[in-house]
Amino acid sequence: MPPIIDVADLRKRYAGAKSEAVAGVSFRVEEGEVFGLLGPNGAGKTTTIGTMTTRVRPTSGSVVVDGVDVVADPVAAKLRIAVVPQRANLDRSLSALENLTFHAAYFGYGRRERNVRAREMLERFGLQGRGDDRVDNYSGGMAQRLIIARALMHDPRVLFLDEPTTGLDPQSRLFLWDQMEALKARGVTLLLTTHDMAEADRLCDRIAIVDHGKVIASDTPRGLRRVLPGAEGLEVRLEVADDPAAALGSLGEVETEPDGDGQFKARIYGADVAPGAAIAAAEAGGARVLDLRRIEGTLEDVFVHLTGRDLR
Ligand SMILES: Nc1ncnc2c1ncn2[C@@H]1O[C@H](COP(=O)(O)OP(=O)(O)O)[C@@H](O)[C@H]1O
Ligand SMILES: [Mg+2]
Repeated sequence: MPPIIDVADLRKRYAGAKSEAVAGVSFRVEEGEVFGLLGPNGAGKTTTIGTMTTRVRPTSGSVVVDGVDVVADPVAAKLRIAVVPQRANLDRSLSALENLTFHAAYFGYGRRERNVRAREMLERFGLQGRGDDRVDNYSGGMAQRLIIARALMHDPRVLFLDEPTTGLDPQSRLFLWDQMEALKARGVTLLLTTHDMAEADRLCDRIAIVDHGKVIASDTPRGLRRVLPGAEGLEVRLEVADDPAAALGSLGEVETEPDGDGQFKARIYGADVAPGAAIAAAEAGGARVLDLRRIEGTLEDVFVHLTGRDLR
């Protein structure tokens, strides 16, 4: 099957800008995947989404979504996709229900159907009974839920979400994660950006890390975490009379810290340290192993490793 999103050598230079916001980006997304674009502020994520959703005209390159060249046929593309933009763009002079039904009307749904769908959506997004409220009176979390409800009114095959959980409280964030997982289970393809590495790790099947308009790494979350082999290993909690590092020293690079009352936490770095070997070495060194777990570098470690610590 051809990929549902195929971006090839995409470039965008805004009028008057001295460098390209997107400087030759290529990636493919398979149908039903959750694909993440991660990158520091200004990396070009929103611009890339803008080209895929017809808001931004690329300078060069091609973007095909669900078999449609979005530049050549933006109208056909728009029927297949929906966008949850980085900045809320609800019509604040309308009620919540009207925001949903006007959107559906734009997509050609008849009056009865759009009212039924809108009420279903309000319920699904925990907004039942709030349909007649002016959107102005909505909290940030409610507004974000309404934006996603609106995006789903015309049953898109691909949903683009640009920082959908930024600034939300933990309850709203968990709710949106559940909704995204439910959409994935229904076969909707999701492309999202986020600064929340735990969110990316949890939701995404594959991730592209972008910086300065280019993809600098692309893999599964697991594959990306392995970019830092030194961050993998074992963490062992030990009870030992004297030097814990000496007890484990034969296993390789070991870092230890006191953990109170004759106990120590030791980290043994390396992907191939066997738990059995660690226990045996500790016991031979006169230590007792209280607890042991595998450690992996976090996506955040990898992200900072790849994109650096400079402020943008
Ligand atoms: N409408 C625009 N006009 C000019 N420059 C823009 C515009 N939108 C974004 N940019 C610039 O393009 C670069 C990429 O921005 P953006 O795509 O918003 O990145 P991100 O979403 O990763 O933070 C930034 O340098 C930004 O200032
Ligand atoms: Mg952005």
